[in-house]
Amino acid sequence: MQEHSNRVRHLGKTIVFVPTMGFFHKGHLSLINEGRKLGDELVVSIFVNPVQFGPGEDFESYPRDIDRDIGLAQKEGANIIFIPDKKELYPQRFQTHVNLKELPNHLCGLSRPALFSGVATIITKLFNIVKPHVAIFGKKDYQQLVIIRQMAFDLNFDVKIVGVSTAREPDGLAMSSRNSYLTDKQRVYALSICKSLKKAQELLESGINDAAKIIESASKLIKSYPETVIDYIAICDPETLVDIKRIDRQALMAIAVKVGNTRLIDNIMLNPNT
Ligand code: PAF
Repeated sequence: MQEHSNRVRHLGKTIVFVPTMGFFHKGHLSLINEGRKLGDELVVSIFVNPVQFGPGEDFESYPRDIDRDIGLAQKEGANIIFIPDKKELYPQRFQTHVNLKELPNHLCGLSRPALFSGVATIITKLFNIVKPHVAIFGKKDYQQLVIIRQMAFDLNFDVKIVGVSTAREPDGLAMSSRNSYLTDKQRVYALSICKSLKKAQELLESGINDAAKIIESASKLIKSYPETVIDYIAICDPETLVDIKRIDRQALMAIAVKVGNTRLIDNIMLNPNT
């Protein structure tokens, strides 16, 4: 992969990179599609990264379908599908991890302590292997996006980080590989997440800008559905992820809920002036 990227760079071509854990849905395809517009050589990686899963999380059961993914990525215009081997990326003597000080201490980082060290580490490795000019990430994993932006800034990665809007099912559910774990009933209960985000924007538009009130309303709505356990509902600064009390400027509202055994996340930008 490194030799190929060197050759492509030598020809003066731009490498665009879409890192993924596979099991593609339309959200991944929209990242790949966006990537095609932003450069010459489009590299898609598929790797379920073990170090970003904590004990008891779903590393083993994470959905995988490599053959289908390869077909879809090719159809969407990927030039290279990079499928590294776990032993090659993490040999026994591996001992370096990339950690950020502040940004992981919010939202998902609180209940998934291994997550962002694992993400920052694998993305550092993949950037050094794929050598992209541009890398694309989905905004559904908003905290991941700001962490990667910060890491690229702090470590002087010469890579432009591009965020792409969350792809949604027609009824509003944010697309996620983990949606495949949901039963038909749970799929309905999961809608409580995007409904509560939509209601939050409506409340804001009706003049309520007290974050605690908006969070309380979202919490009530989600709890009114069976099999839902809220991990967090937060309204925070979109750059620092620090909680905001009054929404007098653009704010990120982010939610994580367990529906049955499936942990789902979603978010929106709350805009006071729309
Ligand atoms: O968002 C994901 O699928 C993963 O966290 C990523 C960025 C591919 C790193 O493993």
